[in-house]
Amino acid sequence: MGEDASPGRTIARGAEATLRRVEWMGLPAILKERDPKSYRPKALDDRLRRERTRTEARLLVDAHRFGVRTPIIYDIDLAKHRLVLEQLAGPTLKELLEDPALPPESLATAVRHLGEGLGRLHAGGISHGDLTSSNVMYPEGPEGPAAFLDLSMGSRSPGIEELGIDLHLVEEDLKSLHARPDALVRAFLDGYAVGNPAGASDVRARAKAIQGRVRYA
Ligand SMILES: Nc1ncnc2c1ncn2[C@@H]1O[C@H](COP(=O)(O)OP(=O)(O)O)[C@@H](O)[C@H]1O
Ligand SMILES: [Mg+2]
Repeated sequence: MGEDASPGRTIARGAEATLRRVEWMGLPAILKERDPKSYRPKALDDRLRRERTRTEARLLVDAHRFGVRTPIIYDIDLAKHRLVLEQLAGPTLKELLEDPALPPESLATAVRHLGEGLGRLHAGGISHGDLTSSNVMYPEGPEGPAAFLDLSMGSRSPGIEELGIDLHLVEEDLKSLHARPDALVRAFLDGYAVGNPAGASDVRARAKAIQGRVRYA
């Protein structure tokens, strides 16, 4: 890792990682470092953090190959559990959903693009694994493509259940963060069918089944 990636201002501290704004070769970048967990034996903790870092890097690159927007990886240091990522401009989907000034048509366009991107990801054989509204950004604004973050829980050989869960999580977020989610869910699913035309009906059916299980559990 170059000395350009010296730690800068912390922008987020999640359950697993600390994110800092840094400069990398003169470019604005994000340093994502997985924090140690003291409740795990050190050797196991090291291995897990290394594996998640590697999985995240691999899936970010694969997703990009299928035409899905993700941050470019500038650098990777497995021993330090660090990735240096292209810094994307905001907003996150969460911020869009919570913005009362955003016109409904713009929000519908944003979730349609989210659906299309997720469809492409799935059609390429990748599940996201943690698809919350904080893990989706719109670097070109709500009318532009959706970018996917935080793929470390994703899979390169997902079953239909994993794909259904991705869809289910998005629908849940739309419902919990927006007062009138029906049109948004429709726009999301329409976009999904564009991105994953062959798989859409099966995955939608599974998402519906998951919803039923959750509701009556
Ligand atoms: N490449 C990036 N560009 C800009 N902001 C980012 C980038 N990666 C992450 N972030 C911001 O940091 C937050 C946490 O990042 P994330 O990768 O989801 O880490 P965690 O695993 O802790 O959830 C995101 O919700 C987003 O706001
Ligand atoms: Mg996250």
